Amino acid sequence: MSATTTHPNYSPGLEGVIGGVTTISEIVSETSTLIYRGYDVDELASHGTFEETAYLLLYGKLPNRSELDAFIKTLSDEREVPEQVYTALKQLPKNCHPMDIAKVGFAVYGPYDPDYAKVATDQEANRRKAVRILAKASTIVGNGHRIRQGQEPLKPKPEHTIAQNFLYLMSGNEPDAKTAHVLDSSLTLYAEHGYNASTFACRVTVATLSDIYSGIVTGIGTLKGPLHGGANEEAMKMIMEIGEPSKADAWIRDALATKKKIMGFGHREYKKRDPRAIYLTKIAKELAVEKGQTKWSEIADILENVMETEKGIYPNVDFPAAYAYYVLGIPIDLYTPIFVIARVSGWSAHVLEQLANNRLIRPACIYEGPQSADWIPVDQRK
Ligand code: CMC
Repeated sequence: MSATTTHPNYSPGLEGVIGGVTTISEIVSETSTLIYRGYDVDELASHGTFEETAYLLLYGKLPNRSELDAFIKTLSDEREVPEQVYTALKQLPKNCHPMDIAKVGFAVYGPYDPDYAKVATDQEANRRKAVRILAKASTIVGNGHRIRQGQEPLKPKPEHTIAQNFLYLMSGNEPDAKTAHVLDSSLTLYAEHGYNASTFACRVTVATLSDIYSGIVTGIGTLKGPLHGGANEEAMKMIMEIGEPSKADAWIRDALATKKKIMGFGHREYKKRDPRAIYLTKIAKELAVEKGQTKWSEIADILENVMETEKGIYPNVDFPAAYAYYVLGIPIDLYTPIFVIARVSGWSAHVLEQLANNRLIRPACIYEGPQSADWIPVDQRK
């Protein structure tokens, strides 16, 4: 038996390993609950705005009226990005995925941050940077989308929320209230999720005393993969490939028989239902009825039923997000960048928490390679 399967400290994929202590959010698999700093995520999504949630994550408490007004004003003031960022984005090939646009956008913006020269452990500077990152994410993604289509970036409007800013820049049109509300709720649901892969990667980066922008770029790169944030795009492509509710049952049974991974299903932490998916499914279905586009949610229902009965696996947040965003008219390859617009709040909260009590994150590994190789001069090697 391989040493990797027997060592008592080894857990593939770090499953079940406790990587740290946090006060930001808690996932309880048994009860399918998720809280951000004590508040149930459903309550935050149904009663509050994404801006309130972001404040909660960054400052540890919900804002009162004057704190919220001041926060929203700062976000509006910080929303624009320097022209140099747009110049860099214009150099990218037109087929560049918007997640790579976001990555480049933040990598280029970092050195323009007024607090760029501050040391990595300056927490006041880090908090100011976190607010700038939050303010600029929807602009980088929205205007990045324009640029790849050969359009000029638009100037963000100060009166817009983060959700409205993204929708306005993406389409060039004033978003309707329903669209902005659904997107805003999904941003709250996507904002934070414990030691998920991108957050953990972000913490690893800043724990070396690198800077918050390097952490954010690490987070974006990690989120891009289809086993993590990229699943929302893949889920919609799958639903579209199925095409009709009448084909869904046979399609999913065949996929399971051939051991396909069904995107938007399953979760490392939730063994029952993902509470974010429960909430977003309800919104997505209401939206589908309201917009007269129920075909996608009908396909989704069939996939959900078969996955539950055949595998005991439930949809995660990326599944309803996929068909909700489709009905809202958002291009599929912007789904994961929307996740970025939300998750920068969680990543930044974790950066602040990591640096408040920092220790280098450096796990060990089990070596299984050869032990006593003999040195052979290059010209004598086979
Ligand atoms: N479709 C089919 N089978 C699945 C799925 C799925 N989506 N997810 C898990 N399984 C099966 C898997 O085949 C395995 O079965 P067996 O033990 O017979 O080999 C078992 O369940 C355990 O799966 P795993 O991949 O070892 O579990 P994990 O904890 O390593 O992976 C996961 C979790 C999310 C990567 C996985 O469920 C998956 O690949 N899902 C699809 C991608 C996805 O939707 N990702 C988004 C995650 S939630 C939002 C986010 O944080 O980004």
